[in-house]
Amino acid sequence: MTVAVEPSLTLKLTDRINRIQPSATMAVVAEADKLRGQGIDVVDFGAGEPHFATPQHIKDAAIAAIQGNFSKYTAVGGTAELRDAIVHRHAADLSSDYRREEAMASVGGKHVLFNAINVLVDHGDEVILPVPYWVSFKDIIRYAGGNPVLIETDEARDFALTPEMVERAITPRTKLIILNSPSNPSGAVMRPDDLERIVSLAAKRGIWVLSDECYVYLNYAGKQFSIGSLRDYKERIVIVGSLSKTYAMTGWRLGYALAPAPLIGAMQKLQSQCTSNPTSIVQKAAVAGLNGPQQCVEDMRQEYIRLRHHVVKGLRAIPGVQCTLPGGAFYAYPNLSSFFGRSGINSAAELAGRLLRQAHVATVPGEGFGTREHIRISYATSSGELDRGLERMRKFFASL
Ligand SMILES: Cc1ncc(COP(=O)(O)O)c(C=O)c1O
Repeated sequence: MTVAVEPSLTLKLTDRINRIQPSATMAVVAEADKLRGQGIDVVDFGAGEPHFATPQHIKDAAIAAIQGNFSKYTAVGGTAELRDAIVHRHAADLSSDYRREEAMASVGGKHVLFNAINVLVDHGDEVILPVPYWVSFKDIIRYAGGNPVLIETDEARDFALTPEMVERAITPRTKLIILNSPSNPSGAVMRPDDLERIVSLAAKRGIWVLSDECYVYLNYAGKQFSIGSLRDYKERIVIVGSLSKTYAMTGWRLGYALAPAPLIGAMQKLQSQCTSNPTSIVQKAAVAGLNGPQQCVEDMRQEYIRLRHHVVKGLRAIPGVQCTLPGGAFYAYPNLSSFFGRSGINSAAELAGRLLRQAHVATVPGEGFGTREHIRISYATSSGELDRGLERMRKFFASL
């Protein structure tokens, strides 16, 4: 017997899922994979992840956890051992002062953001978000029912965000300000005194500040800084951290939050009804990463500094390409607007699409980050790959 199904009924999805888009960076990865599947040699500047392998002592801890049958559920927000390791590492490196009850682990930094924004932001609340922003912020805010309030930064001053810009964007509906220094995609690093002034003006008005510190160790502009060190304002601060970039562990999925205990409690409640604890074995690996030798972090940082100079020099040598010097993370964010109007190209999306299909170089167009004139180039790759991609780009731009 066949059962007739009304097609419009099967696709009636919720308003909240219809408010968001798939991640723009994931879309590039998929398209580049498709080309590779056809046997095409693609130079990949799209993926936002370290090219390094996870350090050996971290891998060994995971293997030991498997062999030791550390395979049961743990507390939702992670083991006490892991939460202590998070708190101690942050205190030692970034001068914060959190307790175990003010820390929790989730399935990656993205999951932490999802938890935090969904427990803080209600329908109609405004969330201040500097442009360019990392792709997922806007969609997670929208999913929660909030309204992103975008602030343009100043490219001529390396995408600087000032307290004055933030102050102008505040309204009675502002619930949260999101900061991400060093920034994905621009690499901009904020000055500690600007960060402090923003936190202070937010705290005075009862507004929360969420600091996404996924790249906090990849700071080439100055001493690494966390607003977690501004202890007087702790009651209004949420720190989002991740092991993904710091220890080259993107696929392992381990992120953490540091925040006032009641907020951590609410985030754990949400997490208890979706993923529960992050993978037990990964928690053991994370403890080894956080408590173990930190030289690997510095070694990777030094290599990124070298690659940053290499890629920025190469990009600036291409006629028509303008590129700020990123102060951190591992992305260059060149402005390509001088090519608009040539060969039918009028947007970063068209340009990145043609660059991928014609020159076989994968990059991420700026539209996903809120700007129309840029593409994001991840330089977390070898100098050889950078040279191959830069040469292809040079030829492609010359042909326009
Ligand atoms: C700014 C920023 N925040 C958060 C994340 C999420 O990282 P993960 O979920 O791998 O910890 C990323 C990843 O690219 C990022 O760039």
